[in-house]
Amino acid sequence: MIADKLTFSQARRHKPSFKVTSAVAAAAHRHLVESLVNQSPETSLKRILVVNFSQTGQLSDITAQLIGPLRNAGHQVHLETLQPETSFPFPWPIIDFVDAMPECIQLDAPPLKPLSIPLDADFDLVILSYQVWFLSPGLPMTAFLKSPEGQRLIHGKPVITLVACRNMWLSAQETMQRLIAAAGGQLRDHLAFTDRGHPLATFITTPRWVLTGKRDCFLGMPPAGVAPDEIIAASRFGRALADALNNDQEKTGHPMLTGLRAVTVNPRLAISERAGRRAFGVWSRLIRAFGKRGQWQRRPILLVFAIYLITMVLTVVPTSLLLQWLFSPLLKSRLEGLRTQLELPSGSQEFNLEKYDQSR
Ligand SMILES: Cc1cc2nc3c(=O)[nH]c(=O)nc-3n(C[C@H](O)[C@H](O)[C@H](O)COP(=O)(O)O)c2cc1C
Repeated sequence: MIADKLTFSQARRHKPSFKVTSAVAAAAHRHLVESLVNQSPETSLKRILVVNFSQTGQLSDITAQLIGPLRNAGHQVHLETLQPETSFPFPWPIIDFVDAMPECIQLDAPPLKPLSIPLDADFDLVILSYQVWFLSPGLPMTAFLKSPEGQRLIHGKPVITLVACRNMWLSAQETMQRLIAAAGGQLRDHLAFTDRGHPLATFITTPRWVLTGKRDCFLGMPPAGVAPDEIIAASRFGRALADALNNDQEKTGHPMLTGLRAVTVNPRLAISERAGRRAFGVWSRLIRAFGKRGQWQRRPILLVFAIYLITMVLTVVPTSLLLQWLFSPLLKSRLEGLRTQLELPSGSQEFNLEKYDQSR
């Protein structure tokens, strides 16, 4: 049996942003009783590896909502919280923040501390919970996916990805797909949790949160991050996944979490992300030509990059959103096609919400 070496309290050591309510606990208990009653004798319990990294605790809270029903249904969950050898700061000093961009884009992640997973451990399913940093997976998740140990754990396994970020996760997810495939894993489902604030507001509230630690309402804009009710509602995925695992659906090759509004893609953001990725690609190579992450030689060019970033956010981004809005009638069918494609594999449909979303 695989011991659960890490607990939620460890995963939340960065101060939880959110507390599970007694209503949710009662709902989870009700579901446990139901799942025990409905379990057939031949139901096989599964071993699930969950890999997580969160600085504020937001992603850990969402991950905990997913894991709760799995554990309640009797499945064995090993929660592995990634620990970089040198921890990343929070809140981020502005210089460290921009200095992280080139390595995020070039997937050059600093090493992690050894994992707490026994060498002979074998899992039926792997869940990867990650943040987006500069349109790429956060560096701790990149380090895991590029490490021999991470690749061994993923090889031949069904994989579910879970992202929580501001709202730009499409490019990062493309990279995740690539890294998972390179490790021999099979991506089966993808869940995305984003800030529901207006993109122009979150361009201010997310950097404010990350750079100062302040998350509250600011100048009439809503608090940064994923809304508390969205976090609670994440347990629907745990309940649906527990049922899918009880029915051995992880072996079928099909998505297990459709009909639960797993993702909602704004295809206009996809266009902005593509432009951003291209620009970051050029900047990341240029900045790395000046030195390594943390070296003073990089500081002058980082300053130029920071000015470029702020100018883009204040000018090009609103202009591009406005142009896309103006031309949206012409682009409509193209954008719809793009949306359907980008929402794969789990999709934005809602046909299973009534069955699994107890927060409704
Ligand atoms: C260095 C850095 C870069 C980020 N870049 C993006 C980004 O490109 N797109 C996005 O949607 N969110 C971005 N974010 C926000 C994170 O994805 C995440 O929501 C935030 O750091 C809080 O995560 P946590 O609560 O799990 O610690 C960035 C955050 C950091 C620290």
